[in-house]
Amino acid sequence: MVVSDILNKENLSKQDIVYLLTIMEEFEIKLLFAKADEVRKKYCGDDIHLRGIIEFSNHCDQHCLYCGLRLHNKNLPRYRMNKDEILNTARFIFKAQIQTIVLQYGEYSFYDFYEIESIINEIKNELDVAITLSLGERNFEEYERWKAAGADRFLLKHETANSKLYSIYHQGDELENRLNHLRYLKSIGYQTGSGNIVGLPDQTLEDIADDLLLLKELDVDMASISPFIPSPETPYGSEAKANIDLTLIATAVARIVLKDVHIPATTALGTLDELGREKGLKVGANVIMPNYTPNPYRQNYQIYPDKKCISDDPLACGACLTLMIKSMGRKVGRSKGHSLKIINKPI
Ligand code: SAM
Ligand code: SF4
Ligand code: FES
Repeated sequence: MVVSDILNKENLSKQDIVYLLTIMEEFEIKLLFAKADEVRKKYCGDDIHLRGIIEFSNHCDQHCLYCGLRLHNKNLPRYRMNKDEILNTARFIFKAQIQTIVLQYGEYSFYDFYEIESIINEIKNELDVAITLSLGERNFEEYERWKAAGADRFLLKHETANSKLYSIYHQGDELENRLNHLRYLKSIGYQTGSGNIVGLPDQTLEDIADDLLLLKELDVDMASISPFIPSPETPYGSEAKANIDLTLIATAVARIVLKDVHIPATTALGTLDELGREKGLKVGANVIMPNYTPNPYRQNYQIYPDKKCISDDPLACGACLTLMIKSMGRKVGRSKGHSLKIINKPI
């Protein structure tokens, strides 16, 4: 097979994707990255959207084998920001001219539904921002009520499209159930984000190809392709971390396959490689999610160790990223950065 022939196709098959994930020659990788950057420019332009994230609690009652926030990690001091702290952080993000606020926590089923509803209400009443929820699986009625309160988007990664591995990583839970949640979220009007983790134990390149095809089938508005970073506080603590080149190649292929979606250059990418986020932005990504979780909480949102910016002042990240974006000849998006599928929809 010849890489340029695959890149000229309108739709890539699973076989094409697997082939692209195996390329090693520098000239082939350059061709792939150039194509991904061209597709990014065509569908997203040069704007890089910033999404300010508030990790408002690290409590979690789940057991995902790869994540340091899992319930069984007894070495992590747990926290929960109160409503005023969350609202003040949201105001701070808005003042920094960031128009999307991401509310994320572990997956704590007992976290009060009404408190989250009233936080959404108050943010939307006071600030002209979009809200993304990243709250794991909750029940369908809660999704509906939070949508009615003003939430715009929901981020729920499928993590892996391999149903056997999904059940292993999530202690018996079923992938189909997660997909039903994603489909339901979309059906009630959320802009939906999903995604995978590259480099999880026992994952194959075929699995990653299936991840990208699943994202296409789900017709997501946002796709996060992030690398696995082992946490010593998990059963996968001594597994190998993801390969940066494979993660970048998977990001580039995701852009080519999915076209008009938002793709973040993730914090995990920046943790894996000092220049990881810049590299991601050059191969198809168009979003960055600066962390505004205030001190002293931020160092305890330890999904994995040495998380990028964990010890920095939250003030520093916005300015640092703006500088990075300008130095790349790109622009900071000044809109809410809604789904490209909505913005580009013919009237
Ligand atoms: N609890 C919510 C959930 O699971 O959707 C939101 C927070 S959770 C920490 C956000 C994401 O972190 C997960 O979707 C997962 O992809 C990612 N994650 C967890 N552990 C990771 C690891 N060791 N390496 C890379 N990403 C990881
Ligand atoms: Fe909890 Fe989310 Fe981590 Fe799973 S990935 S343990 S649900 S925080
Ligand atoms: Fe956090 Fe640079 S992005 S300090």
